[in-house]
Amino acid sequence: MRENTYPPIKVSYDPRAITLNGERFFLLSGAIHYPRATPEQWPDLIARCREAGLNTIETYVFWNLHERVRGTYDFAGRLDLPRFCELVRDAGMYLVLRIGPYICAETNYGGLPLWLRDIPDIQFRTHNAPWQREMARWTRTVADLLHDYRAANGGPIILAQIENEYNLVAATYGDDGQRYLAWSAEFAASLGMDLPWVMCVGGAPGTIETLNGFDVSDQIEPHRRAHPDQPMLWTELWTGWYDTWSVPHHQRDAREIAFAATRFIAAGGTGINYYMWYGGTNFDREGMFLQTTSYDYDAPLDAFGRPTTKARHLARLHQVIEAHKEALLSRDGPRFDEVGGGSGIWSYGDLAFLVNSSTDQPATLTFAGRTHTLSPHTALIVHRETVLFRSDAIHPEDQISYQSSILPTVDLQWESWPEPIGIVGPTLDRPIFATPAPVDQLALTKDRSDYCWYTTSFTLAAPVDTLRFTLDGYGDLAHCFVDGRLVATTADHAPREERGFFDDQNFKRVLVLPSLAAGEHTLALLGIGLGLIKGDWVIGHHNMVHERKGIWGQVLLDDVALPGPWRQQPMLRGEAARIWGEGGALVAWSPMPTESRPLTWWRGMFAQPVPDAPLLLDLVGMTRGLIWLNGQCVGRYWTVAGQRASLVPRYANPVSTSPTQRAYALPAACLRPLNQLVLFDELGGDPTAIQLIRP
Ligand code: GAL
Repeated sequence: MRENTYPPIKVSYDPRAITLNGERFFLLSGAIHYPRATPEQWPDLIARCREAGLNTIETYVFWNLHERVRGTYDFAGRLDLPRFCELVRDAGMYLVLRIGPYICAETNYGGLPLWLRDIPDIQFRTHNAPWQREMARWTRTVADLLHDYRAANGGPIILAQIENEYNLVAATYGDDGQRYLAWSAEFAASLGMDLPWVMCVGGAPGTIETLNGFDVSDQIEPHRRAHPDQPMLWTELWTGWYDTWSVPHHQRDAREIAFAATRFIAAGGTGINYYMWYGGTNFDREGMFLQTTSYDYDAPLDAFGRPTTKARHLARLHQVIEAHKEALLSRDGPRFDEVGGGSGIWSYGDLAFLVNSSTDQPATLTFAGRTHTLSPHTALIVHRETVLFRSDAIHPEDQISYQSSILPTVDLQWESWPEPIGIVGPTLDRPIFATPAPVDQLALTKDRSDYCWYTTSFTLAAPVDTLRFTLDGYGDLAHCFVDGRLVATTADHAPREERGFFDDQNFKRVLVLPSLAAGEHTLALLGIGLGLIKGDWVIGHHNMVHERKGIWGQVLLDDVALPGPWRQQPMLRGEAARIWGEGGALVAWSPMPTESRPLTWWRGMFAQPVPDAPLLLDLVGMTRGLIWLNGQCVGRYWTVAGQRASLVPRYANPVSTSPTQRAYALPAACLRPLNQLVLFDELGGDPTAIQLIRP
């Protein structure tokens, strides 16, 4: 046990702010999710936050990753949460710990382990003993693990979160939901962490209610009236947005974020958490349904942890807040002189916030005898007549851009290995199941793989030119092979993020098969999951326990259901063989084939161009699949174009023909002097055009 030499911190709050040892504290926090970076990056990322004037780091806790197998915990490497806490403390910063355990966060299953749903009678996130028992067990495990990092032991943890945004599901669970919520708050308090708890939006009495959004201007006054005894905290100021396959990359302007933050502080907000300050990357298959591998989020630190213009611009705001926090915190609140339409001057003595809320009209505001003209959606902070910060003015020296360079073409000497099409085996890892009708592949894969085979046969009395082929109940994608040949796929575009329930039309697809001869044919369908959903609303507000992948409905030929029987086999042969690791030595790799073939494993080698530097892998020419670097899975890939409009109204931006994500991060810590890259490509990609980029 480590000797604890840190003085205890007593955390509480009053109507204005969180208090630390009785002193009001202005909380400026940036979110970093520890599993979305390598531990080697953590110290630098934390230092970059501090450098930007943040005093706190926020992270969720990822139950789905720590307890992949029930009762077996993993806190090593990227999952070494105590180490992350230690580094935050070493940097002289505080930590907001969002335990959840339901966390949303665009992570697989919203942060829940899949095995939870196998517990009889369980319903997630509502009043029922199986769920509450598991939730209590895990939450207690986290609290015990981080005992040394509690405020009473010197921190850095000063605020914790139980549950997450219950407002999004409250209507579904009614009284049971409220009962569960009240229990969650009581249970959290019973953990003896001795600090205030939040639930994000829609919390229970006993927790601090918070705000969330791109801009919370309209919510500030109703919030204050509803919670006069609580400080105004913004748990998630979205600095950009997450990307999903087939939607163009989301971006958010630095000036807009600065406006939203300044406006909030003007009106009395004393705590902001920027979600995300560093987004990072989803390793392995850790991203949720449809989430791209990158979790860049257009955050102030880029994918490689480098400060962007956004970080620099917001750092100026933080500097001003830090320098004037006494003036802000010592008062009960600002004086507000409204000029109309939510615009006006919020003043704290000589310090004032001039805000033009109009989105299209300039405003003229006078403070301390000086008149200022503000362009639309602009906020100024002034001290008497001196302007300290302008949300709309980015200093020329804060403009940063990084020049990436394509590395001189390297011959990766690609070799290939064909994944068998259809069922082979069986082996211990890949048993074969005989079923009268196709069943949800998660029942077989247990989410150890995105893939599952479904095979059957059918007979044609006469040759056909075309054949209508209907999948009525499938997700998320399926490739269709007849007699070992790829004849159709649903992967021409990605499914919608909010799909509706499983009997919905969104799970039906009609494809056309090419000409086939008379006689018996084999049909092999490869079911493909794109990550597990993050919340009930994705499946039409049904409980997440109902999540499904693969084929579960009817498969029809010209409207006649195939009678079966079916055989199913989970995961790929290459996965079971660990072809990217020691198993790679056991298969017969061939030199690059001349013809493209679906379901191909590719292996290439390259020397590290620059030591200790990350790279980007440009997967132009490839289709869909997974990437392993030196035996570690660094994510899914898909070069599908950004052809679908964003679900978020503010991003109703034009669709694009460029891929949502074309380049994939290879973190420095995963690179070696000589590197082995393994790709599994589903639809006959050609690796010869792949390039390495120095970001
Ligand atoms: C919030 C949620 C976060 C994250 C965010 C979008 O509603 O609490 O976990 O999902 O949306 O990035």
